[in-house]
Amino acid sequence: MKQEKIYLKDYKAPTFSVEGINLDFILNEDFCRVIAKSEIKKQTPGAELRLNGEELKLVSVKINGKALAAGEYETTEEELIIKTVPDIFTLEIETELQPQNNTSLEGLYKSSGIFCTQCEAQGFRKITYFFDRPDIMTSYSVTIEADKKKYPVLLSNGDRIKVEDVGNGRHKAFWRDPHKKPCYLFALVAGDLGVIRDTFTTKSGRKVNLEVYAAHGKQERCWHAMASLQKSMKWDEDTFGLEYDLNDYMIVAIDDFNAGAMENKGLNIFNSRLVLADSNSATDVDFHSIESVVAHEYFHNWTGNRVTLRDWFQLSLKEGLTVFRDQEFSADMTDRGVQRIEDVDALRAGQFAEDAGPNAHPVRPESCMAVDNFFTMTIYEKGSEVIRMMQTIVGRKGFRKGMDEYFKRHDGQAVTTEDFAAAISEPNGKDFSQFRRWYHQAGTPTIAINEHFDDAKGEYHLTLEQHCAPTPNQPTKDPFHVPLMMGLLDKSGQELPLSCDKIQVNTDGKNLIELKDKKETYVFKGLKDRPVLSILREFSAPVNLSWNAKEEDLYFLMEKDTDSFNRREMTQKLALRVFHKLIDQARNKAPLNMDSRFVNAMSALIRSNDMDPAFKAKMLQLPSYAVLAQVESVLDAEAFHQARVALRTAIARENRQQLLDIYHKYHGVDPKSHDPKVFGHRSLKNQALTYLAELNDPEIMDVVNNQYQQAQNMTDRMTALMILADSESKHREAALNDFYQNWKDDSVVINKWFTAQATTSRKQTLEDVKALTKHPAFNITNPNNVYSLLRAFGANLVRFHDPKTDAYEFYADKILEIDGKNPQVAARLCAAFNFVQKLDPVMKDKVLTQIKRMVAVPNLSKNSRELLQSALT
Ligand code: TRP
Ligand code: ZN
Repeated sequence: MKQEKIYLKDYKAPTFSVEGINLDFILNEDFCRVIAKSEIKKQTPGAELRLNGEELKLVSVKINGKALAAGEYETTEEELIIKTVPDIFTLEIETELQPQNNTSLEGLYKSSGIFCTQCEAQGFRKITYFFDRPDIMTSYSVTIEADKKKYPVLLSNGDRIKVEDVGNGRHKAFWRDPHKKPCYLFALVAGDLGVIRDTFTTKSGRKVNLEVYAAHGKQERCWHAMASLQKSMKWDEDTFGLEYDLNDYMIVAIDDFNAGAMENKGLNIFNSRLVLADSNSATDVDFHSIESVVAHEYFHNWTGNRVTLRDWFQLSLKEGLTVFRDQEFSADMTDRGVQRIEDVDALRAGQFAEDAGPNAHPVRPESCMAVDNFFTMTIYEKGSEVIRMMQTIVGRKGFRKGMDEYFKRHDGQAVTTEDFAAAISEPNGKDFSQFRRWYHQAGTPTIAINEHFDDAKGEYHLTLEQHCAPTPNQPTKDPFHVPLMMGLLDKSGQELPLSCDKIQVNTDGKNLIELKDKKETYVFKGLKDRPVLSILREFSAPVNLSWNAKEEDLYFLMEKDTDSFNRREMTQKLALRVFHKLIDQARNKAPLNMDSRFVNAMSALIRSNDMDPAFKAKMLQLPSYAVLAQVESVLDAEAFHQARVALRTAIARENRQQLLDIYHKYHGVDPKSHDPKVFGHRSLKNQALTYLAELNDPEIMDVVNNQYQQAQNMTDRMTALMILADSESKHREAALNDFYQNWKDDSVVINKWFTAQATTSRKQTLEDVKALTKHPAFNITNPNNVYSLLRAFGANLVRFHDPKTDAYEFYADKILEIDGKNPQVAARLCAAFNFVQKLDPVMKDKVLTQIKRMVAVPNLSKNSRELLQSALT
């Protein structure tokens, strides 16, 4: 396997075009045959034909029907090369595959007896030799032949032409996709599946057949996915005027899947955990994730499929934009303010950490070893923030105008992030040349805030200075174009008029500063008293603030800000200040000194009666360990844990009765409802219970145990199970056993049981996790099992970075074991080592020992190698 880097600067336009391709699949138990017949046109005189292909058994190559002799072509580990070819010709290639032995879960493979494919990013080359690059778009005709009993359902992209009997108990299905596509969007499914059906009528009156497939017996759990699909189709019409373009839309749930889901044209393939749901088996969060991922994949039909990528360095063109679209959809389906808080929490916990670590890379990277490693929080979540900033600058109306322009210019094309930026900026008369640095420069900028109030002149001076720390290969950065939504509040919390000539107002009437220089001062005039600054409203840019705000201002904003994001942000800022002091004390073995002002503010929140429950739950949530690891200079997990437990216990002790009141008020109300309002009630109630559990009070643990026993939905059951799993309660073992007995045959649900045990702060967690890897329910070839047990453990900072154990060694062993079977999954585990620079010297040394050991393995995949070796430089 080549282990070299590829570079964006080496991009070359294709030298051939493909006018159409016919793919014939003959599926058997021991091997499968693929016959690929393409009509090819030379675009560059003299070009030699080079096709990608890996792990294939080549049976024959024909040009215009004539088989090539051995000397007329050449194969390497990665290519099929034919030096001289005609200008226009038919190329027929026959290959043999063994999907039953394919553990990488890319290309054609088998999961629970079902044949399925995963071609993004470069899996198509494991099916046949082809131009495996997204800028080669062509139309596909597909036939699938298989045993009729074992594989009654035969699916591919586009329109169903017919199914024929071919004798011997076998049948053959014919499919044709009328839309040109790159090969990464090709898909095939063959198996014995259950299905549910419904329809959607588009705004122009076409009736689309919708089908959701799952293992027999599971199809009744697909109705939430179906409803989510229908909502997505409607939303994309209403919001962006985008209509579906085929007669059928299919979703298939598969148990063994590397990622969440895949947007193959007309035939989405999903990880079953993102399809199957009913209130007994899925939590509110699961319902919400399913809705958003179904939407995400549906939205790709326009942003990704109709307009696709020129090359993989442009991945964020489709992923950032599609995440932005699914976030906006979720905001419209639930509560915009709460949704924004959740999206920013995920961004900060995951992407900010990535951007500060050894694998930081720009939203549009310039080089890589493994293309699969591009599927990162930076490409997806930061990519979405970049799109959101564009919308903030031009306003919603302006953004819609730009999107219309994007499709007008580029429908049917394979394009770049530059093309997108131009389509948004030009119709709005904006200049994005500086803005585009967000695509090219990695790292999270910090904006330092300095305030000065001139009493005599009645002027408020706001000075902003931006800085971005070096990231790999980018020692210095140019200033970013940063849209900062802001307001000034008077003493009573009223918004003050902003008389400053540098304030922009976008097409939604929102006030913003567009910071472009390294340092800039803004003068606001005509003010009687010192105003209170509310800045970075709605988190309008993915930046950190260095703002030594007065404590009283933070408490004031927490109560009074008109921007709900910032109200909650102030609780986080204050909590981080409190944690910082507590962590310091814990590290110095000093007694922990509780900040009573903060505890009182949290008590006031708990007692307030006028706050939306979902929002209140967010207000009560304290910053995660992942956030602490970023803001603290040393990752001392034990100290983090002591600080967190101390603060949570203090809050719970002050409010025992009030928290119980909240609990009883919402407990058991509408237990089966899927309404977002009810989700909010349950999240507040369960938040209250989780605080109460800090008290180590047997009476409370009985309440928890009762909730476990009597739960009428998975949200309540899981909350209680997680609390018990992380306790020394006498109910712990019984609850875990009970859960296992009830769900042991359900591959989706049993993952929750793994996670509950992998994420506890108990000292013996590592031993438990080790034992669970040998449990009959754990299968190391199943990505969901690996993620829910091992990756969850890797993200459990308290136990993963416990100086008393060697979790690193165990984890490295598992990465190596998985890497040999499935490099994509192994690579996803490597992120646990991203915090290496934050560890104290002893722990850092332990990590580096393991990383060196892994990198020294000669056949380590390029996926894992790329991510691990960066930690050594
Ligand atoms: N394109 C998919 C999405 O974002 C992601 C994806 C699906 C993927 N399967 C994958 C990424 C396999 C890497 C490998 O919707
Ligand atoms: Zn996507």
